[in-house]
Amino acid sequence: MTDHLANTRSRSAELADDIGANDSANTTIGDVIAARLARRDFLRGSLAATVIGSAVSPLAMSAARAQGTAPQSRFAFKELAAGADEQMHVAEGYDAQVLIRWGDKVTADAPPFDPRAQTGAAQDKQFGYNNDFLGYFPIDGGRRGLLCVNHEYTNEELMFPAIGRQDVKDVRFKGMTAEMIAVEMAAHAGSVIEVARGADGKWTVVEGSKYARRITANTAMEITGPAAGDARMKTSADPDGKRVLGMLNNCAGGVTPWGTWLNCEENFNGYFSGAFPADSAEGKSNKRYNLPSHGYDWGRHHARFDVTKEPNEPNRFGWVVEIDPFDPASTPKKRTALGRFKHEGAAGIVNKDGRYAIYQGDDERFDYVYRFVTEAKVDTTGREGNRDILDRGVLSVARFDADGSGVWMPLVHGQGKLTAENGFRSQADVVIEARRAADLLGATKMDRPEDVEANPKTNKVYVMLTNNVRRKADQIDAANPRAENRFGHILEITPPDGDHAAANFRWEILVRCGDPSIAAVGATFNPATTKDGWFGMPDNCAIDADGRLWIATDGNSRSKTGRNDGLWALETEGPLRGASKLFFTVPNGAEMCGPCPTPDGETFFVAVQHPGEADEDDPKAEPATFEKPSTRWPDFRPDMPPRPSVVAITRKGGGKIA
Ligand code: FEO
Ligand code: CA
Ligand code: CA
Repeated sequence: MTDHLANTRSRSAELADDIGANDSANTTIGDVIAARLARRDFLRGSLAATVIGSAVSPLAMSAARAQGTAPQSRFAFKELAAGADEQMHVAEGYDAQVLIRWGDKVTADAPPFDPRAQTGAAQDKQFGYNNDFLGYFPIDGGRRGLLCVNHEYTNEELMFPAIGRQDVKDVRFKGMTAEMIAVEMAAHAGSVIEVARGADGKWTVVEGSKYARRITANTAMEITGPAAGDARMKTSADPDGKRVLGMLNNCAGGVTPWGTWLNCEENFNGYFSGAFPADSAEGKSNKRYNLPSHGYDWGRHHARFDVTKEPNEPNRFGWVVEIDPFDPASTPKKRTALGRFKHEGAAGIVNKDGRYAIYQGDDERFDYVYRFVTEAKVDTTGREGNRDILDRGVLSVARFDADGSGVWMPLVHGQGKLTAENGFRSQADVVIEARRAADLLGATKMDRPEDVEANPKTNKVYVMLTNNVRRKADQIDAANPRAENRFGHILEITPPDGDHAAANFRWEILVRCGDPSIAAVGATFNPATTKDGWFGMPDNCAIDADGRLWIATDGNSRSKTGRNDGLWALETEGPLRGASKLFFTVPNGAEMCGPCPTPDGETFFVAVQHPGEADEDDPKAEPATFEKPSTRWPDFRPDMPPRPSVVAITRKGGGKIA
């Protein structure tokens, strides 16, 4: 989700809190290590611009190039030119094909899409809005499979005619009808579609698939794990505290080896309005989540989103949801053991001892990086043994120390400060208030952690830190070394002996993002990176079948970086470590989400989210509306608004990508 601080702010920036809710006294280490940092930052950052990884200076690089001995890129494609326009673009020699758009049929009985007469009932059966995470589950060797898609949020100004932005002062949702809110609720959450690749190499959605399913903000879900049934999870509609309707703001996610889809609830605070009753404990605890934020007006029509009436309902959102895409009748499960915060993603890896480790970012300025390790080993003999494996395990939060070491600190009730004395009566309290628990343990305040993903080939873990313009000079630390960090950076975590359950780790900065030609930006891409190859605001990432890292961005634009968001290939090993190369760009106003390489390496599914939004860093940009979007991609019909869509990228003539 886009999240900026600018005069013209995107719909999504309003929903995503941009204040930073972490007023804990946790160190940003700044004061303590200021003196040390000067040297350390030099070693890890500035110097890295000239000496990256294996000590390759620009001079040596150009000398090598002159001699024709330049190190070989692991990514064999001709780099795309960076830019910003109304179209998507892919590197030469590749096809980018729109697979499914907002409003397209998902279930067999879906009516045709008519954006001027859209209803909640129609949207319930059609592809949702703002596709984000993509998870691919191959069937029959890989040319057919299930594609699971998250629908993060809705843009009313682009979805409905003649209403414009509704979440702004002086409007305050006056134009929103009950039917529009029904459409919004149905356009959230997720879709399961079956896709197949034909003999011509093109992907299509399989019509009438038995797997086709829409999941919405009204789908019944089960609450499992330590918070299930706790008093704080009970509402008037659910006196047992074990059943909830819907999942909200599903950003990135994960795919488990036992064939389930993990869905992450991110900016859930925006859906709640009203005011907590005076002296309400939930009112106090939810301040840490900037809740209620009233980014949508659902509370006017649905009491459960009004905290005045249902103060416990927000405790039932902000979780990781596990879904079995192979059983359309299955009940999604909110796995509370993984903690409650603004989950970006939940990418996992089978640890060498057989347990499953899931890395998670809490996407808020000054929030934390988490890891969950299951108690049980993954059952490799079938799916049944893993059915509820995510209900038991240890959630930990990361502290990044200035000497390049780090500690995973367990959030376990009764240990350390997580006791009744500090308001934690049980593990339910610990997971419901995971942020406050992490505050007490002294976790490191990060620059908006987005995707965190482990590379199964190297066991190294990559942490996308997208930006944090609110970090002041006296708040910098070794792991977040730039004040007013506009462009973000990427950390690399190395677990000892490849052990993803270990208590400690080593870390370093892989790259600081932004334009390396502007010294004041302090970017540290490998000097082999071209003027098209650098990026800002890393958000999602993917590791392909060959163990190579790909980065998707959120927040580049003509006015901010002279380029739209896109998909970049980033070298992590050898002399080119830190060199990045542009492969794909999205149309104006869009964010690049869900990069999902297929296991055969021949297809990259990508999600183009919120095309048509205004360039929020351009003070002269007019507000984008249904009538006047910044692009009409992908249909380019005067009567059709822009439509968030999933795109399949393949190589012309077939074969592996890059
Ligand atoms: Fe929905 Fe953190 O991006
Ligand atoms: Ca984002
Ligand atoms: Ca994201």
